Amino acid sequence: MPSVGSYAQAVGRSGFRAISEWLQELPGPEVALHIGAPDLPSPAHVVAAVEQAVRRGTARYGPNRGEPELVEAIRAKLVRQNDVRVGTEQVLVTAGATQGVQLALSAILAPGQEVLVPDPGWPNYAMAVRSLGGVARPYALAADGSAATQLAELERAITPATHVIVVNSPGNPTGAVLSAETLHGLVDLARRRDLWVVSDECYESFQFTGPHLSPAALDDERVISCFSFSKTFAMPGMRVGYLVVPRSLSALCLRLQEMAICCVNIAAQAGALAALEGPQQALTDMRTTYLRRRAGVTRRLRDAGIPYTDPQGAFYVFARVTAPPFGHDDKGGDWDWTRELLREKRVLVAPGSTFGARGGGWVRIALTADDEALAEGIARLVAFCHADADAASLTVTTGTADERRDPVGARPRPGPAAQ
Ligand SMILES: Cc1ncc(COP(=O)(O)O)c(C=O)c1O
Repeated sequence: MPSVGSYAQAVGRSGFRAISEWLQELPGPEVALHIGAPDLPSPAHVVAAVEQAVRRGTARYGPNRGEPELVEAIRAKLVRQNDVRVGTEQVLVTAGATQGVQLALSAILAPGQEVLVPDPGWPNYAMAVRSLGGVARPYALAADGSAATQLAELERAITPATHVIVVNSPGNPTGAVLSAETLHGLVDLARRRDLWVVSDECYESFQFTGPHLSPAALDDERVISCFSFSKTFAMPGMRVGYLVVPRSLSALCLRLQEMAICCVNIAAQAGALAALEGPQQALTDMRTTYLRRRAGVTRRLRDAGIPYTDPQGAFYVFARVTAPPFGHDDKGGDWDWTRELLREKRVLVAPGSTFGARGGGWVRIALTADDEALAEGIARLVAFCHADADAASLTVTTGTADERRDPVGARPRPGPAAQ
């Protein structure tokens, strides 16, 4: 047989694929909290715009950059909301942030170069880097750390081969938001060490601690920003996002887009235009809903003494379940733990090590189910943890130093401030 591409083989397997395999052998979850896709409906005016576009006839190719009205609406939004002042030639409509990240990296990365990716973080960053022959180097930004500590950690991770820093704030899976001080420092660091910054801002609309800061507002030469309609407007299956690139990359990215997908589905782009220009009430309602769900889940975890990171954005809660007092597996154990939770309690969450080695021992709970389902899911998870703790106390009572270490800054929240 002819061989397959070596970069393709290096991409690795997504943890979510393994979960799909479990679902072929185990009964499915009664409460599914593992997927990071909004359960809320796409706004009605978005759906109507897509329908109308299909009826008008959209079975044609469009410009590589995106439909001109949408590109202009995105440019105006960037000025209005992100303080990012760019020309339309710096905007490219992409098939979600997934393709945006891939396109950005393919424009700037050469084989062998290193990319700093957040750990825990969205696994596709490292997969995209490897698909291009690059090397993904994980970095940790302790959620509760000061800007100085976080920047020192980041600088320590830089080697002579480092070429790009990927940043994701608000972040998946922890919901951590980097402070303005950290983001300013990160952009300064990139300037000093002559690095690109790829900033994934697909959760920009779900930041609950002050306004979102786009790193591209701080530098117009080395920051590439990836945005998405998937989460903001609850339309992930439409596959629309956009990339904002420095002028120096704009022609190159357009060529790459022509090669990769030609253009994004035209009817979906009509939906995205309606999302940007139509009523924003659905977005306000989504924010309220995620905040209420976050409050309910964190309160239940806190009452049960289960540590979690303080989610300041996105729609996830990252909880530490397989560390003392809940379990005792010094490999992290979150895979086995999650599988057992599914088998015994029919609740499915995402194992933390799906998001990198530092997620070992944790699980991600997606706030993408209604209040009732979340309450039931957390009640079952808590019961499972307590049973695990009882079993652990009969065998091993203390964890290793590693287990006690707290790489992502979690602690049981002391009071209502965590809401
Ligand atoms: C951090 C992050 N970036 C990008 C994406 C993908 O978004 P899109 O649907 O726009 O491709 C996700 C999806 O979960 C994500 O969590």
